[in-house]
Amino acid sequence: MNVVKVGLLGLGTVGGGTVNVLTKNSSDISRRTGYQVVVSKASARDLSRLRICDTDDIQLTTNPEDVINDPEIQIVVELMGGEEPAKSLILAALAQGKHVVTANKALIANHGNELFAVAAKHNVTLAYEAAIAGGIPIVKAMREGLTANGIDWLAGIINGTGNFILTEMRDKGSAFADVLKEAQELGYAEADPEYDVEGIDAAHKLCILASLAFGMPLNLERVYTEGISKVTPLDVTYAEELGYRIKHLGIARRRNEGIEMRVHPTLIPEKRLIANVDGVMNAVVVKGNAVGSTLYYGAGAGAEATASAVIADIVDICRQLGNTSSNAVPALGFLDTELKDLPILSIEDVETAFYLRVPVEDKPGVMAAITSVLANNGISIEAVLQKESEHHGENTQVILLTNCVVEKSMVSALKEIELLDSTTGAATRIRVESLQ
Ligand code: HSE
Repeated sequence: MNVVKVGLLGLGTVGGGTVNVLTKNSSDISRRTGYQVVVSKASARDLSRLRICDTDDIQLTTNPEDVINDPEIQIVVELMGGEEPAKSLILAALAQGKHVVTANKALIANHGNELFAVAAKHNVTLAYEAAIAGGIPIVKAMREGLTANGIDWLAGIINGTGNFILTEMRDKGSAFADVLKEAQELGYAEADPEYDVEGIDAAHKLCILASLAFGMPLNLERVYTEGISKVTPLDVTYAEELGYRIKHLGIARRRNEGIEMRVHPTLIPEKRLIANVDGVMNAVVVKGNAVGSTLYYGAGAGAEATASAVIADIVDICRQLGNTSSNAVPALGFLDTELKDLPILSIEDVETAFYLRVPVEDKPGVMAAITSVLANNGISIEAVLQKESEHHGENTQVILLTNCVVEKSMVSALKEIELLDSTTGAATRIRVESLQ
């Protein structure tokens, strides 16, 4: 059987998982590709580090250029993360006519437009299934399985660490910092956990999903991004009382006026399947105009789950090797020449329902004052809760669910509400999506 030599840049959690899965499933992978896929060389920063995989048959080096310059290596797998030196190494590998597989979402989100163009110029593949939602084959689903559809919207839990934190806050009332530490120990969190907690990692993934959905160049700087660090256990509890769960969602939606791209905490009805995706699991709902709603669920991080996506890309490349047909799947699912610079809406123009929590004095007329501000701004109310303080002298909380309203109307209503004499502190607002 012909051999395909693969070089790894990075031999940490995902690199080790990739070696292990290629070993344990080598026979099936050969039967599926017609090739024996061999990891012949790998670079790592510290060669003395303990590995989760056997490295006896792999030539190890601290110099990643040894991997990309090896003439026998046909596929380079970049698992180092970060922008540099990953970007330069990938460019060098592509320029040498090597196919590249990467799990690097920050790199694709920030530099994908340039990298895809370079790959196309050299007639090689730059594959990135593992960059979004770990082991879930969402790129495959969007580029191929759903290709008949116009995509209306998609919404995803695309950061496992953030979902783990929100789940533990709800189930165990755990403190934010303790849960984050646990996620770091399990290898799920990013090197800089702010990427998880402040939504940056989710924004990287959402930006790629939006381009796959609507056929536009990657536009990371236009993704509205809000993290979960301001979500309190109080809001989690009140949301539950209203029949909702708070999830950190990445949402991309096509509207007549343009494209919405946003990442923020969101109340979703608890009966939706995605509201019940807990722990580090990821899920993406994609609404196609032919198929309707589809849901993709699975592990969003972890050694072998992410390796599953990396190896799927390697298998796709093996299937193209020696095949001169030019009908390969385009990087963003639309022909490169057909990508369009669609208008992207600012968050002020996005329309959603809202959950509001306003700390107020416990005295007559407070509720009427708040509801009349909302009415004056054209905002109607869906549900109201009033929570009396259990302790004398502490605030009462007014909790409201509104109907859909344009963000800028809500911002100006909240300014007025916060100026009311009866309001005793900053109001909390979380967007609500019905996901129907
Ligand atoms: N830090 C990421 C997460 C890893 O928690 O989802 C997978 O991209």
